[in-house]
Amino acid sequence: MNPVVARVMSTVAGQLGNPSGFLGKGVARMLDRGNRFLIDAAVAASEVAPGESAADIGFGGGIGLTLLLDRVGAQGTVTGVELSRDMLKRAESRLAQDISSGRLRVLEGSLTDLPLADGSLDVVITANTLYFVPELDRACAELARVLRPKGRLVVGVGDPDAMAKMPFTQYGFTLRPVTELAAALEQAGLVVEQRRLEHRPIPVHLLIARPE
Ligand SMILES: C[S@@+](CC[C@H](N)C(=O)[O-])C[C@H]1O[C@@H](n2cnc3c(N)ncnc32)[C@H](O)[C@@H]1O
Repeated sequence: MNPVVARVMSTVAGQLGNPSGFLGKGVARMLDRGNRFLIDAAVAASEVAPGESAADIGFGGGIGLTLLLDRVGAQGTVTGVELSRDMLKRAESRLAQDISSGRLRVLEGSLTDLPLADGSLDVVITANTLYFVPELDRACAELARVLRPKGRLVVGVGDPDAMAKMPFTQYGFTLRPVTELAAALEQAGLVVEQRRLEHRPIPVHLLIARPE
């Protein structure tokens, strides 16, 4: 690949894995638009209901937080966890009212070390995040740990074959077969249902997981 193009692709991949700075603002808007289909589908598949406690891990631009807040209603709570300080600041500013009312909290943290109590959540979604996590088993164990006994976890990813055709995914993305993701969730003690949804240019997969 032309070195200039390679540098651009590497920057794109870096921003998708940790949006920050001036470019991060545009990336956040792009994520909210471009990933809306997958995030909407993940929220619907979670069957999140009024009054429940829900979380979006690696929320990026934050559209998942807004969708979850709409679904849990006035009596429910939403938690967002992010690695990117700039995405945390964006959510703090855009959703300040929900934070001050106590319906939303946003926390700095990682999928591999969630700043959340054991068995504290009815619903957890995480969309387009596992590509950036080398320690898959640890992330799955953490996601399972924070679920209540009747909780639901929805992991959303782009189809790995379609993702592999995107020029930026060779820079730091780990594109795992969906069966590998499902096996890691099962290993963490979850029962997993897989759904593939047709979408262009990238079909998506949902892994809907519940404690055994
Ligand atoms: C491609 S973006 C997806 C954002 C959003 N979920 C969506 O689908 O539009 C990946 C997000 O995951 C966050 N992230 C990456 N690694 C993470 C980790 N280990 N723990 C939590 N968040 C992480 C990044 O900061 C980024 O905001």
